Amino acid sequence: MIRIIKYKNMDNTTLVLGGTGKTGRRVIDRLAKLGIPIRIGSRNIAPFFDWYKEETWDAALSGIEKVYITFQPDIAIPQAQQIIQSFVQKAKYAGVQKLVLLSGRGEHEAELCENLVIKSGLDWTIVRASWFMQNFSEGFLLDSILAGEMILPKINADEPFVDADDIADVVVEALMDDAHSHQIYSLTGPTLLSFEKAISLIANAIKREIQYAEISMHNYTDMLRSYELTEEFISLISYLFTQVLDGRNEFITNDVETVLKRKPTSFQEYINKTIKTGIWNQP
Ligand SMILES: NC(=O)c1ccc[n+]([C@@H]2O[C@H](COP(=O)([O-])OP(=O)(O)OC[C@H]3O[C@@H](n4cnc5c(N)ncnc54)[C@H](OP(=O)(O)O)[C@@H]3O)[C@@H](O)[C@H]2O)c1
Repeated sequence: MIRIIKYKNMDNTTLVLGGTGKTGRRVIDRLAKLGIPIRIGSRNIAPFFDWYKEETWDAALSGIEKVYITFQPDIAIPQAQQIIQSFVQKAKYAGVQKLVLLSGRGEHEAELCENLVIKSGLDWTIVRASWFMQNFSEGFLLDSILAGEMILPKINADEPFVDADDIADVVVEALMDDAHSHQIYSLTGPTLLSFEKAISLIANAIKREIQYAEISMHNYTDMLRSYELTEEFISLISYLFTQVLDGRNEFITNDVETVLKRKPTSFQEYINKTIKTGIWNQP
């Protein structure tokens, strides 16, 4: 009979999935400064990692003690559950000891994925985040800001946008300190803002006019189709603007301050530091 011996990986090497993305890149920077051995999870950096090519997972997981999981394109898509389940099993078998999962707030589908991590038998922390402030500077809203025209579907709620730097700070705490194990954190910024207000704050700061309009979801999805975006992306965006922004998440939490012992970054502070990067100055 063959005995399978599972080895525990003990050298703290941390795999950061989405390690070139909005929060992953920031987590990598922080862990590197702390001298923690890291592996960047990316389709473009060896050993390559692709959520949709399971054959890439073993090499990425080899010798890893902790994993920061950011799923693509979104933790709430229907396929996520099955993929996360397979990944968690592989991680456990590879000797991983701790999982920190980036999740969304108020999303039933995301909670199903969280449960797979919570029930994995491994150490875990769940980090639920509200809409990232960086969607305006590193995400799908940037092009509209540069074009001076933001058209969105009708939005029925204000959102407590959170800074990706605050998320990364919390994730690093969760990875480094066992006191955060078996905790679910819900991260928001310090104030509720409408998208219109957020855009007007950015427009004022960069001293450029940005027209703002809200249209019906039907017209909005037609507009996205005219840009030849994939149906998968269009349905994801529709979901995020309807279910996630239907009022269920219209509240702020204290979890950033609880973990970091400081206030969360305000939208104005985010604008001030983003202006310095020059990202909103492109022609
Ligand atoms: N954005 C928000 O406001 C928000 C709010 C709450 C929760 N979330 C959650 O945060 C997660 C990240 O979302 P995001 O939109 O901000 O993205 P992001 O982290 O900026 O995503 C880009 C990253 O994903 C990687 N990636 C893309 N496709 C991949 C694939 N097939 N396999 C492996 N890696 C892949 C990219 O790496 P390479 O290109 O280098 O391969 C890159 O590192 C999602 O699960 C989302 O549900 C986002």
